[in-house]
Amino acid sequence: MSSSSSSSSSTTTTTTTTTTTNVKIQNEYLKNDETDYLYHLGLDSSMDLKSMFSDVRFVCMGGSASRALKIAQRLCKELNVFEGLPAGLDVATIGKTERYSMYKVGPVVSVNHGMGMPSLSILLHETTKLLHYAGAKDVMFIRVGTSGGIGIEGGTVLLTTAALNGELDELFTLYVLGEKRQWPATIDADVVEEIRQVARAQCPSVKVVTGKTLGTDCFYEGQGRLDGAICEYTEHDKFAFLKRLHALGVCNIEMEASLFAAFTRRLGIRAALINVALLNRLHGDQVTSTSAQLSQFTDDAISIMIAYINSKLTNQG
Ligand code: URA
Repeated sequence: MSSSSSSSSSTTTTTTTTTTTNVKIQNEYLKNDETDYLYHLGLDSSMDLKSMFSDVRFVCMGGSASRALKIAQRLCKELNVFEGLPAGLDVATIGKTERYSMYKVGPVVSVNHGMGMPSLSILLHETTKLLHYAGAKDVMFIRVGTSGGIGIEGGTVLLTTAALNGELDELFTLYVLGEKRQWPATIDADVVEEIRQVARAQCPSVKVVTGKTLGTDCFYEGQGRLDGAICEYTEHDKFAFLKRLHALGVCNIEMEASLFAAFTRRLGIRAALINVALLNRLHGDQVTSTSAQLSQFTDDAISIMIAYINSKLTNQG
């Protein structure tokens, strides 16, 4: 992997590679002989992380703690690697749970990241260091989440090809040491195609599309909603914005995609974004589906993720 560091307002370019060895970190200040406290996870590098996590191949991330638990419980039942086990499996959290709830089911970690990029950022940094210290190899990160569709109906699953920032560029923007830094926020096209094919074959009743995702820092004004406590634009402005997004190939809006895509790309970690739409924002702003429908929407996105993980574990051993 090659990369060049950016200066103020510039774009850092990083080529994509598939991880074939240990999970990498890019920080010369982290010395192997000093304990690194992964504070929000309640773990540290002096623990025997190798015996706990060296076999991890997938990290599944979703917003809420209940989704992380649901994914872990489904993995216990549905992962091919457990077929034929004489007894069932149960899950328990690892580390502390004030902020994030982490489970490990065979070679798969399920953990929630909270809402939005600041919360996701902490989890990405600490989970990546955890897997680096553990010596885990060929790890893939998958976010399975919810979103507001643009021109796609509630229940449609979108496989993200690229994530846009607030300026509608396919970049993730972060202010570092008082300077604006930006990195490409695209997802490996081969990964998107692999998941699309698995979904088509194994979850034929779920509508799956590919397209771009807008990652915002705000559910209301940042996503052009008219139903926040403050709204300083008109309905006309809102629809002009949504139509502009649609014309750019954006099919949904959520609050994590650009960071997730850029962070994993910078470290050469295989990654996928599987987001189900809760509603079509061209028809309204409020999420009005029943809780049973919303639960089915999320279950469908999780089914695709587990089918994909099973296909990779079966093919690669
Ligand atoms: N999550 C979002 O960020 N926006 C939506 O409209 C729905 C889910």
